[in-house]
Amino acid sequence: MRLTIAIDGPAAAGKGTLSRALAEAFGLAHLDTGLIYRATGRRTLDGTPPLEAAQTLSAADLEADDLRTPDVARAASVVAALPEVRAALVDFQRAFARRSGGAVLDGRDIGTVICPEAEVKFFVTASDQVRAERRFAELRDSGHEVTLDGVLKDLRERDARDSARAAAPMMPAEDAVVLDTSGLAIDAVVAEAIRLVTEKTGCQPAT
Ligand code: CDP
Ligand code: CDP
Repeated sequence: MRLTIAIDGPAAAGKGTLSRALAEAFGLAHLDTGLIYRATGRRTLDGTPPLEAAQTLSAADLEADDLRTPDVARAASVVAALPEVRAALVDFQRAFARRSGGAVLDGRDIGTVICPEAEVKFFVTASDQVRAERRFAELRDSGHEVTLDGVLKDLRERDARDSARAAAPMMPAEDAVVLDTSGLAIDAVVAEAIRLVTEKTGCQPAT
């Protein structure tokens, strides 16, 4: 069977970490859809209008080295609220999800809008405090001048905007399994998710 796994959840919940691990375990391609919105938001900071930024996004834009900054995260969430921007990015994501070898996609609307037919859906979450600590550590370790309070405030603001927007708001799909990773190490989250994928689909991990 061609397996599609949809992973959604709020900022810094561990979506990317889990997606990469599942992609490796089941031999699937992985698409971090947040990167597409970050690259679009990044271009608007240079003055490109949002729709034009989304419509003319190039592979090089997705490889820019400053996509993980707090400013770009905020710009991503602002452009992500625009229905025309989301519409311009749908085809690419759906085509990726349908590739023959199967795929894992992570973002905010994968289980609800991009891949409602995905065989397995996870909504990964963790407390605000835990998520802020995780993102703070990442940003600090990559040389950014940040404070834990500043990161917490940014995450809350972004989550609020992502859940409140009318276009494809962040929410668990009806058939998503909610994984609260607050007190869990990465290995434990990955093991539980692999178990659930096998239980639901019969697919066995290769690794
Ligand atoms: O993709 P998303 O923004 O949801 O999160 P991530 O980039 O996968 O994870 C954010 C940070 O939390 C990374 O540094 C992970 O190593 C860490 N993490 C963790 O400490 N415990 C987990 N269960 C999951 C992720
Ligand atoms: O890694 P983190 O969870 O902090 O953010 P991300 O997944 O890179 O996403 C950045 C922003 O893009 C989010 O705050 C959303 O506003 C937007 N996004 C979205 O609207 N839909 C998606 N499928 C993925 C990201």
